[in-house]
Amino acid sequence: MRVIVTPDIRTLGESAARVLADVVAADNGAVIGLATGASATPVYEALAEWQVDFFNVTAFALDEYVGLPPGHPQSYSAVLRRSVMEPLGMQSSRLHVPNVHGANLHSEARNYEQRIAAVGGIDVQLLGIGANGHIGFNEPGSSLSGRTRLAALAESTRRANARFFQEPAEVPRWCMTQGVGTIREARSLLLVAFGSAKAAAVAQALEGPITALCPASAVQLHPDVTVVVDESAAANLRLRDHYRAQQIVGVDGRGADHG
Ligand code: GLP
Repeated sequence: MRVIVTPDIRTLGESAARVLADVVAADNGAVIGLATGASATPVYEALAEWQVDFFNVTAFALDEYVGLPPGHPQSYSAVLRRSVMEPLGMQSSRLHVPNVHGANLHSEARNYEQRIAAVGGIDVQLLGIGANGHIGFNEPGSSLSGRTRLAALAESTRRANARFFQEPAEVPRWCMTQGVGTIREARSLLLVAFGSAKAAAVAQALEGPITALCPASAVQLHPDVTVVVDESAAANLRLRDHYRAQQIVGVDGRGADHG
């Protein structure tokens, strides 16, 4: 696991964006998993500033709310169009978001898995983390091998996401999310978090027991993970100094792999 601690949010965005830009530079038809939320925003802003060309990139959203009208500005489909597809010049046919408006949402969830498999899987999956340790919308108690499915949002997540809506009651109760098992199949994971509200979850995810109580702890099972956090989100990490030391070394200039 490679853990990069950055002094501020802008540097956090740039460090994570560098990982994605390198993947696209190596293969302009790369498949990227997209996260939504405040943590992902500085990453997309850096990519847009550098004018990284996503024309041939295929992207899969991690999750989508269930219960919002089609086109709702806070649907993740709309958010990703605004923050990724338009600024980075993606083709709309290559932006995949779970279809939450079909007649049978269970079969739509299976269909989403098939769409990911059909392009050969995800090269790099960007992840935020909830203060309760969720990834995607896999709330505590989710199977660490789960697949894309309908799931309920934790009340604490609904409260946290109320900032994006006019009324707290507007925040959906349901979602469709890639499962932790789906996420773990991406060839690499890139987790970003900033702010002290994330410090406990980040420490549990990276250094705590692997447990469904903290679905993000499943990243410990993945052989290729990069974590980018600011100082406040890193505050509870016991191995903080070790990660910092590893940022300084590294023949490729990107820091050594912690293994
Ligand atoms: C949201 C999303 C997640 C996101 C996480 C953190 O509810 N479903 O994919 O990574 O919670 O959000 P934020 O970055 O806004 O704190």
